Amino acid sequence: MDVASGLAAVRANIARACARAGRDPATVRLIAVSKTKPLSMLQEAAAAGQRIFGENYAQELREKAEALPGVEWHFIGALQTNKAKLVVGRAALIHTCDRLALAQELSKRAKAAEMVQRVLLEVNVGREPQKAGVLPADAGRLLDQVRALPALSCEGLMCIPPAEGAPAPHFALTAQIAKRNGLKLLSMGMSADFRTAIAFGATHVRVGTAISGARPAHAGHEG
Ligand SMILES: Cc1ncc(COP(=O)(O)O)c(C=O)c1O
Repeated sequence: MDVASGLAAVRANIARACARAGRDPATVRLIAVSKTKPLSMLQEAAAAGQRIFGENYAQELREKAEALPGVEWHFIGALQTNKAKLVVGRAALIHTCDRLALAQELSKRAKAAEMVQRVLLEVNVGREPQKAGVLPADAGRLLDQVRALPALSCEGLMCIPPAEGAPAPHFALTAQIAKRNGLKLLSMGMSADFRTAIAFGATHVRVGTAISGARPAHAGHEG
């Protein structure tokens, strides 16, 4: 499957999921997850109309953003505090702010660059010990702390549900925490479960393998 067909199939599935949920497809933004993909594949996607790319590694984001101007970059990977400077100002939205020390560093870097960095808080919605993200019970407190920082704009939540089991309850909980805290953006849903995430209000879906054709090793929450 080529990238243009993969994108078209994913867009059609987004449209169908929106129709089922009574949502306007314009309220769901598709992020093409491009980590480790060659630039030629990103150029192909851009030529097919894809405008937002999601990268997981700070260095790779920097290189690709320089090589492919005119598109929007989102940072969706684990972010070490000492790499914050590579991402601030390059990523339109950082999805993985999950601790105060990182938020403080992002704000410091954004302030120095005289800009406001948009971020999402990553929630460890399944409370998995090995996973990044603030625990659901601690999200409100971290949000208050992040909101007090001068150069960050916290606009929503991001989650990656556990690989095992149904993702729906995790999407529901993430949406509930966002609503309770007055947050509008919800980054949730990947190749296997973006249609379910849309039913629960996802505003950003992060899709990799369903676009590029490779099958995920942990194939599917959904049939
Ligand atoms: C944070 C994040 N979101 C989404 C994806 C895309 O996953 P998939 O290839 O299953 O669509 C990845 C893939 O690495 C990821 O790391």
